[in-house]
Amino acid sequence: MAERPYIVGNWKMNGTRAMLAQARSIDRAAQNLMKVEVALAPPFTLIHPVHREAEQIGVGAQDCHPLPDGAHTGDISASMVADAGAKFVILGHSERRQNHGESNALVREKGTAAIDAGLRIILCVGETEETRDDGKAESFVTRQFKASLPETLASPEESLTVAYEPVWAIGTGRTPTVEEIGAMHRAIRATLVELYGEAQGTAVRILYGGSVNAENARELLAADEVGGALVGGASLTAESFLGIVLAAA
Ligand code: G3P
Repeated sequence: MAERPYIVGNWKMNGTRAMLAQARSIDRAAQNLMKVEVALAPPFTLIHPVHREAEQIGVGAQDCHPLPDGAHTGDISASMVADAGAKFVILGHSERRQNHGESNALVREKGTAAIDAGLRIILCVGETEETRDDGKAESFVTRQFKASLPETLASPEESLTVAYEPVWAIGTGRTPTVEEIGAMHRAIRATLVELYGEAQGTAVRILYGGSVNAENARELLAADEVGGALVGGASLTAESFLGIVLAAA
């Protein structure tokens, strides 16, 4: 397991102010679990309220627009989420790629905008079941990753986290084997080293995401090159999320 695992809860389109009690409990518990870095990405409407509650945990957004401002009704820019208290933004999640037609090029633009606004990015990549069955998972993910990365990253170890989330494992209760996760994470690590050199490439954290829960977390986090987890469903209550944080501690 990584030296200081990074466990991030992605609340997706869940949460009203009633959920702030969960964030508060997570934050209080995280204060006694300093061996683990804990963060939450609530919906836009809760970024500032969670930020105000949080003394220990990091707070992030789940998306941002590639432009800094302008006539884009309904959109939210990177500087706006930073102003609300976000320190990072999740980009390239498969639900945005699928439901909003986000291309690698758009994810790259968003990443550049996020870095310009002083945010760190959690860049998501992952293959469909069909691609895995075709034996092309690693080549697909490597290509997707390279094409989605911001063109330049001054200090990747500080500004970039990668999240490997196989599309078929998200919200399904199914997970790859520890060997499959290890193989994919090694391929992503090799790409990072190729792009940024040994020192910086090995310092970037690579998270696993897809049906992580308190029961399977310890095993999944032990896979090669896994630096933490990006958690969806099981991050929605303090009890289940803290079970994962504890497994990482
Ligand atoms: O970003 C987290 C994610 O997509 C995994 O969701 O519900 O399978 O943990 P879930």
